[in-house]
Amino acid sequence: MRSFDAEAATGRRPLLHGKVAVITGAASGIGRSATGLFSAAGATVVAFDRHEAGLAALRGSHGDDLLAVTGDVTSNDDVAGLVAAALERHGRIDVLLNSAGVGTIADVPQEVSDTPDDIWQRTLDVNLSGTFRVSRAVIPAMAAGGGGAIVNLASVLGLAGLAGAVSYSASKGGVIAITRTIALEGAPLGIRANVLAPGFIETPMVTEYLPKLEDPEQARIDVEAAHALGRLGQPEEVAGAALWLASDAASFVTGAVLPVDGGYLMV
Ligand code: NAI
Repeated sequence: MRSFDAEAATGRRPLLHGKVAVITGAASGIGRSATGLFSAAGATVVAFDRHEAGLAALRGSHGDDLLAVTGDVTSNDDVAGLVAAALERHGRIDVLLNSAGVGTIADVPQEVSDTPDDIWQRTLDVNLSGTFRVSRAVIPAMAAGGGGAIVNLASVLGLAGLAGAVSYSASKGGVIAITRTIALEGAPLGIRANVLAPGFIETPMVTEYLPKLEDPEQARIDVEAAHALGRLGQPEEVAGAALWLASDAASFVTGAVLPVDGGYLMV
């Protein structure tokens, strides 16, 4: 198990100094923000996403230090390719941030009784099984290097539910269960696992969904009001929490569900 890093915690050394971090969903939103933040904090990032053009843009802004691997978290072959590429280039994996995910992929809110199999299945395949699949592939490499830290992305909706979004809420509840299981199994291997439960964050996942609703302006006002801070979060505010959990400044934190929600769960 990695010990507490006082140098990093007090800012005398970058939080992820010398670490190799795999980030899925790196081409957009929270994953993209984390790619910038983790790199600035000393990590060497391996970025993974199915969105080729988004990864190309990331490569352009990060240069040769960034290894960008195109692939889909629903494919075992693609995930195996990600781990092989990371190990071939860097020899180990210290950090995994599972940020790849899809939002409410139906065009309109769907109550449980209206939710078709394909929406349910596609949402679970990416959000739940994708997190499982990438974690399963990375854990042995992480353990071989003496341990590491996994940070997953759930949602306040995985704790509180949301009318009209059963597939998404269920997928995120499952991510919390996966994380706690990894935390238990990973402890003897030196692996910590924690999960973030963000409120509504201003990324394409939300900004492309709100206009689909009947009254987008009112929907935005309602969503903002659902947070005690009265606004949406920014992707870097979630990436910042991920950065701390991924670092040895959080050496005694495992199995935690951390809301990064502007007080959504209190309102
Ligand atoms: P985003 O839509 O901006 O980025 C998601 C990224 O994941 C995209 O680059 C996309 O190409 C990639 N992706 C999607 N499916 C994939 C697949 N099958 N294989 C590989 N890559 C795939 O979304 P955002 O907001 O950055 O979300 C990141 C994570 O945070 C997701 O798991 C999301 O559920 C979670 N989250 C987001 C919240 C929000 O309000 N934006 C709130 C709570 C959680």
